[in-house]
Amino acid sequence: MAKVMDQQPASLDVARIRQDFPILARTVGDKPLVYLDSAATSQKPRQVIGAITEFYERHNANVHRGVYTIAEEATALYEGAREKLARFVGASDPACIVFNRGTTESTNLVAHAWGRKFLREGDQIVLSMAEHHSNLIPWQFAARATGAEVRFIPVAEDGTLDLSELSSIVTERTRIVAVTGMSNVLGTLPPLAVLSEAAHSVGAVFLVDGAQLVPHARVDVEATGIDFLTISGHKMLGPTASGGLYGRRDLLEQMDPFLGGGEMIREVWLDHATFNGVPGKFEAGTMNIAEEVGLAAAIDYLEGLGMDAVREHEKQLTAYAIGRLVEAGATVYGPRDPEVRGGAVSFWYKEVHPHDLATILDQEGVAIRAGHHCAQPLMRILGVPATARASFYVYNTAEEVDALVDALGKAEDIFG
Ligand code: ALA
Repeated sequence: MAKVMDQQPASLDVARIRQDFPILARTVGDKPLVYLDSAATSQKPRQVIGAITEFYERHNANVHRGVYTIAEEATALYEGAREKLARFVGASDPACIVFNRGTTESTNLVAHAWGRKFLREGDQIVLSMAEHHSNLIPWQFAARATGAEVRFIPVAEDGTLDLSELSSIVTERTRIVAVTGMSNVLGTLPPLAVLSEAAHSVGAVFLVDGAQLVPHARVDVEATGIDFLTISGHKMLGPTASGGLYGRRDLLEQMDPFLGGGEMIREVWLDHATFNGVPGKFEAGTMNIAEEVGLAAAIDYLEGLGMDAVREHEKQLTAYAIGRLVEAGATVYGPRDPEVRGGAVSFWYKEVHPHDLATILDQEGVAIRAGHHCAQPLMRILGVPATARASFYVYNTAEEVDALVDALGKAEDIFG
């Protein structure tokens, strides 16, 4: 494979995009920062940083409470962010978006508020074996509390989900199918429409962990038949602790509140209370207002690039990275075909432990993640305690992939 891709992906003007990200201009030691850990958290463009600063400098007030001008401005910005996020994921009703800190909180919300109410002993919760702990532990809790059973769709040798036994895994007793939209370890993009159909054919609901999917591809909850979608704002150029949950309105309405406190109520007596409608009944206390306003700026930024162009750029970069890593002697986990995977690329380089590798790469300015990636059951299937992982986003270039591969050579010199 040629050292630099013959052509940079034409779809995004990456040189221009990089100028929007102040952190990409910094060095680590005397080396330029090569940031290849966007699956852990993305970097933030000036437009997002600016939106947060402007919110605090001009509009900061609590929302839904004040009748004065800046409180109304803050409320309009916060509710505007809800409308934007709804549109971004294909939801026609903004009330179906519940704001919170992101995917972990959203899955816990569903596992608690939906799970404790609707799961019964003997019911089945279907997950895949590739789930992040955040889409596993909340269901273990729900199963323990209700007597439901957790079952798993296996992972095939090539890193895709093995759906050959799907009809015996998803049964009349299945109440929910909850799967990753894109594996944070393997990059795998499961066929969501197929899984949605399987869930709905037995009357179950369908949840997608959107942490790695929503930042990188066009998502349409209504067209795909997704009943719950969890969303991490910080992985899509937004601030940490932004994002939330899309939920089908009738499901959200049937669910009991998750957290109790101010604003989620309608009327309160000393011994009982009635609750707000959706989404308010799930937004207790003072919310992450500035963060969601920052997320709105991130959505504007991504929509300005176009999500199809974002996906195309990542497909090309991922194919190039996999080719160069394999050529360099790395074992790459997950599907090879960029059509069925995203840009989180896990690998093991020769005899070098991923933690040692990440430490050596850091000395070259290359930031990757090493570890179990919050997916210990999947690590056991892969037969490794950890992997190294490079992950890509709109600001990454083929030259950065080359810098990664060059740095691998340095690690081999030291450990080889
Ligand atoms: N879930 C994030 C990752 O996979 C933190 O890196």
